[in-house]
Amino acid sequence: MSDTLAFDLIVIGSGPGGYVAAIRGAQLGFKTAIIEKEPNLGGTCLNVGCIPSKALLHSTEQFHFASHGAGEHGIECGKPSIDIAQLMRKKTKTVDQLRMGVQHLMKTNKVSVFHGLGVLAAEQTVQVKNADGATEATLQSSKILIATGSSSIELPFLPFDGEKIVSSDQAIAFDTIPERMAVVGAGAIGLELGSVWARLGSQVDVIEFLPAIAPSFDKDVSKTAERLFKKQGLNFHLNTKVTAYKNDPDGLILTAEKKDQQIDFAVDKILVAVGRKANTTGLGLDAVGLACDDKGRIPVDAHYQTSVPGIYAIGDVIAGPMLAHKAEEEAVACVERMAGQAGHVNYDVIPNVIYTDPEISSVGLTEAAAKEKGIDYVSGKFNFSANGRAIASDATDGFVKVIACKESDKLLGVQIIAKGASELIASAVTHMEYGGSAEDLARTVHAHPTLSEAMKEAAMATAGQAIHS
Ligand code: NAI
Repeated sequence: MSDTLAFDLIVIGSGPGGYVAAIRGAQLGFKTAIIEKEPNLGGTCLNVGCIPSKALLHSTEQFHFASHGAGEHGIECGKPSIDIAQLMRKKTKTVDQLRMGVQHLMKTNKVSVFHGLGVLAAEQTVQVKNADGATEATLQSSKILIATGSSSIELPFLPFDGEKIVSSDQAIAFDTIPERMAVVGAGAIGLELGSVWARLGSQVDVIEFLPAIAPSFDKDVSKTAERLFKKQGLNFHLNTKVTAYKNDPDGLILTAEKKDQQIDFAVDKILVAVGRKANTTGLGLDAVGLACDDKGRIPVDAHYQTSVPGIYAIGDVIAGPMLAHKAEEEAVACVERMAGQAGHVNYDVIPNVIYTDPEISSVGLTEAAAKEKGIDYVSGKFNFSANGRAIASDATDGFVKVIACKESDKLLGVQIIAKGASELIASAVTHMEYGGSAEDLARTVHAHPTLSEAMKEAAMATAGQAIHS
């Protein structure tokens, strides 16, 4: 049995929630330890999620441009081919660089890193277990933060085999381009990874249970996205429910139902992207008397404190959107509260992004949500087809929509579908964070010519005063 090591803060999990919490803890003077079960720090986001998928999206966008868009600019590059091994090496290089960055940050902040499974053994004790289940270290602290993240949900009749029926963990690392691929779920992961493989030449069928793709966005955003992604070769099957699969000499046969009609898809790979679930298995919650809610998440109060004093939780393992930036904000707020400071997360202004081409982003209320809440609102829309920079840079697809309270003019929400929508949304988030109005946004000077002028124009359109439409 190892000696017990004492810390002021123990963080379990080193994703964007965990490692940010560890750094903030160290900044606030806590002697901090972080425990990670995987060989590399950074969690899902860095190792198998946000970062590698963005690298693949970037590379495949270049390929798509070389194949389809370059000629129009007078750039002759013949018929480009793809070296999938090199594409993956480029992705790995990106991931490696950021892994080293997180490691470096742990070192410079004097955070003690332990590799192994963090298991709660008692209220103030965490054991670090190796793959054989042996305890490698025993850590003690009055403050323990659970930031163990989430993992892909498996459909009971479609279990992951890591080869043909896969989650995003494997769909970012195929070593050949699948000829035919089914994607179950048209949310963020389905659309991003469906786009990656479609751009590389796979025939991609996306099967979505609901009547719209990207269903958490406004209807007109989803409709526009569907139309644009169809042009890129993605096939959508909406209102369609997968029910079964079987192995066949011709590959996999995935069966789905649409109304009373049965559809069979003969494919080589099935990506299941129907959401994620909180990671709590093996964490020792029972040992400290912690129970999960009906969705398997750890309940916390406004200070991220669980029902056990001194044990906190943040990020995907608690309620709320499963987004890296939400976890990071909670990490800072939670640790600041541990230190007696007034950390705070404004849940009304958490941006949401899908990194397709064009990208889709939003913050605040959708029109549908405003209606549902009975809010009297005005909306203004501006199409990129009327924006000078968009015309000059092949970015005319999409629009910005601004929603504001009719009475107070306060911004309630912004939806964007556009090239660079992930960056454009930041100014809407800032205006909303400061409680800004549509007029504040409309009267803010935006550089010309930029795509961001569409944001200003959409805000002007809420009062019928857009200049260029
Ligand atoms: P999601 O919840 O975004 O989308 C899942 C989709 O699958 C939904 O549209 C749902 O209606 C559909 N679905 C559920 N069951 C189905 C079934 N049996 N048949 C057909 N369709 C079905 O989940 P996703 O894409 O797996 O992402 C998981 C989490 O990771 C989400 O919280 C997401 O926000 C986050 N994430 C965020 C990214 C980003 O910010 N760009 C990128 C990747 C993931």
